[in-house]
Amino acid sequence: MNGPFVKGPIEQDNTDSIVLSVQGVTKRIKNRNIVDKLSFEIHKGEIVGLLGPNGAGKTTTIRMIVGLIGMTEGDVIVKGKSVRKDFAGAIAHVGGIIENPEFYPYMTGYDNLKQYQRMTEGITEERIRTVTKLVGLEDAMRKKVKAYSLGMRQRLGIAQALLHEPSILILDEPTNGLDPAGIREMRDYLKRIASEEGISVLVSSHLLSEMELMCSRVVVIQEGKLVTMRTLGASGISDASTGAEPERVHVTLRVDDAAAAKSRLARMEEIRILNVSEESNEITVSVRDAYIPRMVGALGSEGIGLYRIEEIKESLEDEFLKWTGGNRIA
Ligand SMILES: Nc1ncnc2c1ncn2[C@@H]1O[C@H](COP(=O)(O)OP(=O)(O)O)[C@@H](O)[C@H]1O
Ligand SMILES: [Mg+2]
Repeated sequence: MNGPFVKGPIEQDNTDSIVLSVQGVTKRIKNRNIVDKLSFEIHKGEIVGLLGPNGAGKTTTIRMIVGLIGMTEGDVIVKGKSVRKDFAGAIAHVGGIIENPEFYPYMTGYDNLKQYQRMTEGITEERIRTVTKLVGLEDAMRKKVKAYSLGMRQRLGIAQALLHEPSILILDEPTNGLDPAGIREMRDYLKRIASEEGISVLVSSHLLSEMELMCSRVVVIQEGKLVTMRTLGASGISDASTGAEPERVHVTLRVDDAAAAKSRLARMEEIRILNVSEESNEITVSVRDAYIPRMVGALGSEGIGLYRIEEIKESLEDEFLKWTGGNRIA
């Protein structure tokens, strides 16, 4: 059976596999912490989403990681190199697209990459071919960039960012302005880059639905602070946070007497009753896994017949709304 951790972080406790480590990073502007003691790590080949509503501090975080702006406190370590103390060493491992990538519109895609090659040491013709293929632009390489769609331009930007063989690719809201087909392509190419080249990807978005499809993990921020980190797996959400309270599940019980079940379960401290429907004889509760046998036993000893027990899976969207205090996602 596929567990929820199939797509989870690789070698979680092997520190060698940590590519990016954001360590207590704070950005203070005019006495306000726009980013507040933010910490998270990204492992090799992982696609991690930096998720939060508009104004949460995603762009500010990314700009600090790539050294476009300074940090007030904390540090960012890329492949063991400190952005603060060894910027050149750290940034050599980063491929980033922060604003829209700039290209020469009257030059072809290929000539734009050649132009970049001339400015950067050690990029081979072979590498240009490899990245072109990785982002699926082989056929468009001889076309002028002005004839490219937004999605093609974004992918050319990714190709360029990959030329110097970075360990991590960092993209700030790369799907902004793309149509659903473009979003889908972007997602497929990022997954391919991560799996074929073993490159880690940090991608920000305010759209949860996209993150769900693209990322193996999300780091959720709100008002500059870490809200939660979640591993996204085949079965939806699993708990990757260090939350103090053990994970509860929501289950709906179908019984022969909902009123009696309610009064019995209400006496059990570990159970929170969420909803009771006497018409359909259903009662929905929040309970820890480990407590379910006792709950069932209590109903049985009271002579209440139990016909069904069904887990209610919250969508990640419900969770996101909860984490961010009900803020709108888009
Ligand atoms: N240079 C700045 N000076 C003052 N406030 C800023 C500056 N840059 C960003 N902010 C504020 O910080 C918050 C986070 O911004 P930003 O990082 O752009 O969020 P996001 O990318 O998640 O939408 C916003 O409230 C924004 O207005
Ligand atoms: Mg932003």
